Amino acid sequence: MEKFATLTIGGQTMELPIVEGVEGDSAIDIRMLRQKTGFVTYDPGYGNTGSCKSTIAYMDGEKGILRYRGYDIEELAENSSFVETAYLVINGELPGREELNRTSVLLNDHSLVHEDMQNFYQNFPRASHPMGILSAMVNALRSFYPELITSDKDFEEVYVRLISKIRTMASISYKISRGHKVEYPRPDYTYCANFLNMMFNTPVKPYILRKEIVRALNVFWILHADHEQNCSTAVVRAVGSARTNIYASISAGISALWGDLHGGANQAVIQMLSDIHEKGASVEDIIRRAKDKSDPFRLMGFGHRVYKTYDPRAKIMKKNCHEVLARLKYKDPLLDIALKLEEVAVSDPYFVDHNLYPNVDFYSGIMLRAMGIPTNMFTVMFAIGRLPGWIAQWRENTQDPEQRLTRPRQVYSGCPRRPYVPIDGRGEGTW
Ligand code: CMC
Repeated sequence: MEKFATLTIGGQTMELPIVEGVEGDSAIDIRMLRQKTGFVTYDPGYGNTGSCKSTIAYMDGEKGILRYRGYDIEELAENSSFVETAYLVINGELPGREELNRTSVLLNDHSLVHEDMQNFYQNFPRASHPMGILSAMVNALRSFYPELITSDKDFEEVYVRLISKIRTMASISYKISRGHKVEYPRPDYTYCANFLNMMFNTPVKPYILRKEIVRALNVFWILHADHEQNCSTAVVRAVGSARTNIYASISAGISALWGDLHGGANQAVIQMLSDIHEKGASVEDIIRRAKDKSDPFRLMGFGHRVYKTYDPRAKIMKKNCHEVLARLKYKDPLLDIALKLEEVAVSDPYFVDHNLYPNVDFYSGIMLRAMGIPTNMFTVMFAIGRLPGWIAQWRENTQDPEQRLTRPRQVYSGCPRRPYVPIDGRGEGTW
């Protein structure tokens, strides 16, 4: 039976339908609010706005739950591969053996980057941030593959192309930034192994693949595969709602992810920890600054819009980070600082009262550093992981008959109407 909430404004009563999710989450449908009452809702940052119905990811911020298509993140991280999880996120079901094999074959078929595109890299200044390059390259894919998506088969072709090429494009960007020869993808390597090889293999020093490191990269990307309506995903949906092509929509998502309140936090965490290590600031100083409202500084890698408890991804990431460092016998002083910061923060009344716990970005950078990934590529690593989510969310949005052009309202707070007053000399003849 349909349920309603009753809203009373200035003596006028209105029944608003309640939309119920499958996990007990519910929303008030306010679509008719403005038409019937003249009011809009006010919710900066959309912290309390449900912008869509979605079947892709479920989060419970109070209990620290994250699921993709109904599967707990812990189970996927333990047992799945990134390619299998990407398939699940995009298609809604785990692949069978045949579907997984087909996806692997398609990933291989699409793994090269057009040689003409490779020329683009040469024209970026050497100091360019890899996120800026990645966003531009993904957008440029549209010029090389202008075909429209008119069937499920077209969609499969496009999503596999994106997932395969983003990895090649990221590693080319790294090689070129170092002035090294580009390493081409190998059809005999799995997705993650191929990425590591393209990044680190050189003619003079062959890269030795280690099973545990390949596994850790799978886990890293599984943890990032989707996170429902986060900033970059909301951007991908918003841009796609204007019937913008998938490449441009995802390119916009990459730009959104770059910011340090979002995916850029993984780079910012390492910068913060390095500052402590190199400049000798104490952990207590950092905590004090993070609490000081007159200081814009925040404890990077802490806090989350939805999670009011420990981010379930951060728990797995912390374990992953310890395992990688142990496997590589890599002693990182930044890990000791991070552990100490966490210990002090989680027992500090400010952090407890504000429900601030480590998020996925707190330990990920330390692990990536140990793998040899340069700091300015950390957010690119996040982007590669988030790509299946962006693709699935773009597709869901474009196929949802209830979705419309994204176009929020505002409450105008500028100057009321006033007459125009010309300045001396302006007017006819000044052109
Ligand atoms: N350090 C110190 N204070 C904080 C922090 C932090 N990291 N995060 C939130 N707060 C405080 C904030 O000052 C505010 O305090 P008060 O209510 O007393 O004014 C309160 O907590 C709520 O903050 P908010 O900015 O309204 O919360 P939000 O939901 O808009 O912010 C956030 C979420 C992730 C932007 C924020 O926690 C933050 O800036 N964290 C650091 C950056 C970071 O690690 N980002 C990665 C997020 S996880 C990866 C991803 O999915 O993007």
